[in-house]
Amino acid sequence: MINYDPVDIATNNLFEMALDCLLLNDPQQKITATLSLHKSHLAGELNIQPLAEVRQVTVPGRPAKPALVDPREVPRRGFSSLKARLALAHAITHIEFNAINLALDAVYRFQHMPAQYYTDWCRVAAEEAQHFTMLSDYLESHGLSYGEQAAHNGLWEMAVKTDSDVMARMALVPRVLEARGLDVTPTMIKKLQASGETGLVSVLQVIFDEEVGHVKIGSYWYKILCKERNLDSQKTFIALIEKYMQGAKFGPFETAARLQAGFTNEEMQSLLSHF
Ligand SMILES: [Fe+2]
Repeated sequence: MINYDPVDIATNNLFEMALDCLLLNDPQQKITATLSLHKSHLAGELNIQPLAEVRQVTVPGRPAKPALVDPREVPRRGFSSLKARLALAHAITHIEFNAINLALDAVYRFQHMPAQYYTDWCRVAAEEAQHFTMLSDYLESHGLSYGEQAAHNGLWEMAVKTDSDVMARMALVPRVLEARGLDVTPTMIKKLQASGETGLVSVLQVIFDEEVGHVKIGSYWYKILCKERNLDSQKTFIALIEKYMQGAKFGPFETAARLQAGFTNEEMQSLLSHF
C-alpha cells in the first residue's frame, strides 16, 4: 500500500486533474490541459489515489456554441460541394471534441481500475485533443470555426447512461459508437479523395489509424471486465446493446478494421446476425 502525502493527493491527483480538464469549457484550454495531463501522467508525476467522491457530470465542459439540436436538424453533410464537405468536417470536429471529454471521463469516473487503464485512456484523451486540433485547423483554413454549425449530443448522452458501470461504458462508447467511425471513415476518405479534398483526407487517415487503437483499448478493457465478472463477452455485448440502444441498426461493418480493433470473427458474425 502506497502512502500519499495529503498535499500531493490534492495537487497531483490524476482524477482531480482529469475532472478539471473535463470541466474546461474553452476548447483551447481543454486541449492544453489534456496534453499536459498526459505528459505528467507519463512522467509518473501523478498519483492514482481514488477520491472520496466521484461527481456525476451531466454537462461536461464545452463552449456555448455549437448549439445542440436534434440529430435530424444538423446541417446536411456530403461530398459534392465544399459547403457539404465543411458540414461533414464540422460534424467530425464535434465528435472529436466529445471524444476528448469521453476519454477524460473514462479516467475520472472509474477510479478502481489497474494503472494501465489510466495510461491507456490518458493517451486516448491526448490523441483526441490532437484530432480536434487538426480538424479545427482544417475548418479555419476554410474560414469556419468550430461551433459555427449546429451539432447533436448523442455521444455525451451515452456517457451519462453508462456512468455507473465501466463495463457498459467500455462496451458502448469505444466498441459501439467509436467503432462506427471505423465503419464509415474508409468510404468517406475515398469520396473525399474523389472530390480532391486532400487536406481533409490526410487528417482523416491519421484519425482512422489512431481510432483503431482506441477501439482496441475499449475491447481490451471490456473483455478483462467480462472475465472478472465471469461473463460471456460476446453474449453480454449483444445484451448491453439491446439494453442501452434499443432498436439501433448497425452496419455495414468495416470488418478488417474491427478485427484489428479487438473484435473476433465470432463477434462480427454475432453482430451481423443480431442487427
Ligand atoms: Fe478521435
